Amino acid sequence: GKEKELIRGSWESLGKNKVPHGVIMFSRLFELDPALLTLFHYTTNCGSSQDWLSSPEFLEHVTKVMLVIDAAVSHLDDLHTLEDFLLNLGRKHQAVGVNTQSFAMVGESLLYMLQCSLGQAYTAPLRQAWLNMYSIVVAAMSRGWAE
Ligand code: HEM
Repeated sequence: GKEKELIRGSWESLGKNKVPHGVIMFSRLFELDPALLTLFHYTTNCGSSQDWLSSPEFLEHVTKVMLVIDAAVSHLDDLHTLEDFLLNLGRKHQAVGVNTQSFAMVGESLLYMLQCSLGQAYTAPLRQAWLNMYSIVVAAMSRGWAE
């Protein structure tokens, strides 16, 4: 349908540069909720407050997140095939202390990144299409989290 076309079309260019776009997304996330930074081990007592931007752990996680989004975009026609993977991913986040409300904040940050990167192409239907897909991903992760 139309929604899938909007998602695939916009991901075609963004997906080629996953890390820089993921960095925009997670910079926004940590701006919205700086406490999330403490769940990683980027933070040191000394050094500047933005040291995490160049930390390998930060960039690795950004890459992991972008690969999950990439998988979701590739499986728009059969998202249910990712169910077990996403349940397990939710479980892993429960174990590292991420709460499910934070997943919603990642969604907001994803939309922020899309808006920044797509400019004029960021339309209301496109926003809604991404939100719908991300909601399916988060719903599965949250189910795994709560199990
Ligand atoms: C693993 C934090 C959201 C995908 C992890 C780990 C932490 C973490 C601490 C373990 C260390 C690591 O592998 O880097 C967070 C925080 C989030 C968040 C604070 C914000 C709410 C997400 C989202 C996705 C995701 C939304 C995907 C859509 C992954 C993946 C792994 C991971 C694929 C590796 C899991 C494995 O080891 O199999 N995350 N995460 N994360 N995260 Fe996240």
